[in-house]
Amino acid sequence: MSTIILNDSPREVTAGQRLIDAINQAGIELPQVCYHPQLGPIQTCDTCMVEVDGKLARACALSVADGMKVSTNSAEAMTAQRQAFDRVLENHLLYCTVCDNNNGNCTVHNTTKMLEVEHQEIPFKPKPYEVDNTNPFYRYDPSQCLLCGRCVEACQDVEVNETLSINWEDEHPRVLWDGGSNIGESSCVSCGHCVTVCPCNALMETSMLGHAGFFTALPKKALKGMIDIVKDIEPEAGYGAILKLSEAESAMRESRIRRTKTVCTYCGVGCSFDVWTKDRHILKVAPEHGPTNGISTCIKGKFGWDFVNSSDRLTTPLIREGDKFRKASWDEALKLIARRLSEIKAAHGPDSIGLISSSKCTNEESYLMQKLARAVVGTNNIDNCSRYCQAPATTGLFRTVGHGGDSGSIRDIENADLVLIIGSNTAESHPVLATRVKSAHKLHGQKLIVADLREHEMARRADLFLRPHPGTDLVWLSAISRYILDQGLAHSAFIDQWVNGLEEYRKSLEPFTLEFAAQVSGLSVATLQKVAQMIVEAKGVCILWAMGVTQHTMGSDTSTAISNLLLITGNYMRTGTGAYPLRGHNNVQGAGDQGAAPATLPGYQSVDDPEVRQRFEKAWGVNLPVTKGLDNHLMVDAMQDGRLKAMYLFGEEMSLVDSNANYVQEAFSKLEFFVVQDIFFSHTCGFADVVLPAAPSLEKEGTFTSTERRIQRLYQVFEPLDGSRPDWMIVQDVANHLGANWKYKHPSEIMAEMASLTPLYAGVSYERLEGYKSLQWPVAPDGTDQPLLYTKGFNFPDGKARLYPLTWTKPTEQPDAQFDLHLNNGRLLEHFHEGNLTYRVEGIRQKTPDTWVEVSPELAKERGIQSGTRVQLRSRYGQVRVRALVTDRVHDKQLYMPMNSTESPVNRLTSSYSDPVTHTPAYKEAAVSLEVLPEVDESPLPRINHRFGHPTPQRGVQVERKWQRPDYSVPGNGLVQVRIQRKKE
Ligand code: SF4
Ligand code: SF4
Ligand code: SF4
Ligand code: FES
Repeated sequence: MSTIILNDSPREVTAGQRLIDAINQAGIELPQVCYHPQLGPIQTCDTCMVEVDGKLARACALSVADGMKVSTNSAEAMTAQRQAFDRVLENHLLYCTVCDNNNGNCTVHNTTKMLEVEHQEIPFKPKPYEVDNTNPFYRYDPSQCLLCGRCVEACQDVEVNETLSINWEDEHPRVLWDGGSNIGESSCVSCGHCVTVCPCNALMETSMLGHAGFFTALPKKALKGMIDIVKDIEPEAGYGAILKLSEAESAMRESRIRRTKTVCTYCGVGCSFDVWTKDRHILKVAPEHGPTNGISTCIKGKFGWDFVNSSDRLTTPLIREGDKFRKASWDEALKLIARRLSEIKAAHGPDSIGLISSSKCTNEESYLMQKLARAVVGTNNIDNCSRYCQAPATTGLFRTVGHGGDSGSIRDIENADLVLIIGSNTAESHPVLATRVKSAHKLHGQKLIVADLREHEMARRADLFLRPHPGTDLVWLSAISRYILDQGLAHSAFIDQWVNGLEEYRKSLEPFTLEFAAQVSGLSVATLQKVAQMIVEAKGVCILWAMGVTQHTMGSDTSTAISNLLLITGNYMRTGTGAYPLRGHNNVQGAGDQGAAPATLPGYQSVDDPEVRQRFEKAWGVNLPVTKGLDNHLMVDAMQDGRLKAMYLFGEEMSLVDSNANYVQEAFSKLEFFVVQDIFFSHTCGFADVVLPAAPSLEKEGTFTSTERRIQRLYQVFEPLDGSRPDWMIVQDVANHLGANWKYKHPSEIMAEMASLTPLYAGVSYERLEGYKSLQWPVAPDGTDQPLLYTKGFNFPDGKARLYPLTWTKPTEQPDAQFDLHLNNGRLLEHFHEGNLTYRVEGIRQKTPDTWVEVSPELAKERGIQSGTRVQLRSRYGQVRVRALVTDRVHDKQLYMPMNSTESPVNRLTSSYSDPVTHTPAYKEAAVSLEVLPEVDESPLPRINHRFGHPTPQRGVQVERKWQRPDYSVPGNGLVQVRIQRKKE
């Protein structure tokens, strides 16, 4: 702590903290237009001027120092503040009463009030630019823009998309997109950071415009008339009277605008935010307090919610009649489900039924689904889609360090000296997590190595980009481990104290020489040595990986190899180190945690363990099945050969997202009875006998667990659409129709039951998760959580980690004479998975209407392909027609298809080969042939897609350029005399 003298009184402050934060914490009013705690000092507005030891200074730019004498209210300081704010008002017309931003949180409004400004000394000057409405999600009004630079700072250094800048040297500076493009054709990824931090109405969500205020929906002409009236009365009435009027209007808004906290329904990063609504209209998503994301979101979390109010939401149960479905009552549908499942169970036993839970739904819903499977149906045939992506990573970590989750938080990744990303298109698949790596790399000297088949954004930013041959990651990773051990570069002290199994592991590495790895992976020996050197020289290494690793036949082993490498280099147990398998869906971590898996009850407690089973049997009052069930991959085989007769699935588009989709669909058509529960009539619903209408995340309460093992609450934003129900209620109804007697009235009761049976979640309760509070498992009964794992040892009885010996086998589905091209696939920033939600977002559809296949320039030349050429891809398992996109992101004979298509899904081409340990399909091992079709269309990517933009990277807003303008002077030097009206504090 330090002591400063603040307005004549001594005050204890945190040593080294920003002076402006210390002043704010003291509750002293100080104007601060450009300052945002999550952006740091920008220094463009000068409104935070204070007197420090007799001199004027910007409070946002200084750190406190012991004995510092600070005055916020001396005549000099207040003159400077007022002068500075006058210059701000030169750029902004106050028409609050008819402004959609008049919601009590407008910085300009509030500062006008705080400084008791009655009249502007410098008159408002509109800027000579049109309003830019070319982005579907937000608009920029240059004439309202304060030039505070918050948006630029957020875009350049937080999001690091580097689209925005300000042309400080121009006669009329403004915010620029790509140095002067319109927004719609710029590199803007519509993440919304800029809109979120804008302190006024210059940047606004289009969903707010004309909706938030009582008078803002007026026709343009009438609106202009009202703004003119405000301008006319200002000289006479002063701002005080005008603000009072607008505050009355703002207070009226409170009665109809609701702000509800939720957690994003898309990826596993776990962003949380307030959703502002008026009836069923979403005004905006406002991120600020989320423990993971703060002000950050990506396009999906910020703008991707139209699907909730889509006109094709399911609102009534449907029952199949021949080739058609007819509407049915809930009662009829539930009775039919109970009758058919009971009949099938009686005839063929409980294991003839399979259940699939959803990694999009809540923890409570997955818990109930596995309870339904085990305690009511009597089978362990329960799974969720973590099998399709994450199970191998979980296995690799269980083998080596003992917990199947990220070993730290995103903050720990930010703190790493070196980040190694393998098989993850992080900037598109986990956008907000990627911003933290991009920012640490840009601003704080973090080193970045990326290994991938594609040169995606993270690869382009990397200090070292490796492009190993497909399916060879285990080889080059193991060779690096061997090299490090051979050269005596391993962290011996760490290994001695914390790691078992070195000798056996070392022996297993014998085949993995650098030369062998070079031959297999195509990376040079020198490159491998360089990677090894960078790893051992770094103070802390985090390895991030995703489906590029896990969706291989060697997925579990490659994940294990990653953890082995971290162990021998001592990269666990402290911030800036560790293993981070990036979870795909919002609750894929949670679905696994809740035991929606064939071998584990909640908290990864084995179904084989009698003690565990007894605990659950006692609590649930039933006998539980003792043998491991079928996972979703094996369920498909069992449907094909007639062992599995019935299935109940919710919230999964399994007929398209499972590998070898044709085979899966054929299997579904063999089921005797199939229940699908979803919010839309998905492709999978087409195979169902009964379809049940569910509710999306905004229409229910519950919790999600993110990739950081972070458990967060979501609150109900809307009532479920008439006729639909939250999944937990439906699962309970199904259970009760099957004879259970469940009486859960609220998801908190489900969580309480789960926590009482699950050591990993023991201390989790809704009270402890209230609002923006969160917990990262394991959570002790007293509520203590563990953001960073393994600080006291690894999760094995002796506290020591285990090196796990590995061998390598060649990937399946290698290109050959007939299928001569390698096909890779993955996510896309703006769409999620197959696109059932995001294609229903109009703005996303405009920008990215379709899927495509990426073709390298060299292959395009060889085959006569251009962007827009239609091609037919064939594999041993199926075929799709799709437009080509020629791009140097892919190279040579490697193709790439985003997975977001229901018409041409990539999984018509992928095989049923899988990782032998987890049965995760080898989605990334696919060989195809390509036939060029005669039709050439437009490029599948419209010109308004951000991928055509040209970012303008720079550090922050570059305020120094503003200070160099001939018309700039530091306020407070007597240039303008203003009357001090504000009372001294
Ligand atoms: S990328 Fe676009 S939406 Fe995101 S901060 Fe930059 S300009 Fe704003
Ligand atoms: S548009 Fe940018 S520079 Fe203009 S007021 Fe908003 S945040 Fe500040
Ligand atoms: S990064 Fe993921 S969790 Fe965050 S807003 Fe985007 S999709 Fe949602
Ligand atoms: S808040 Fe300090 S210069 Fe703007």
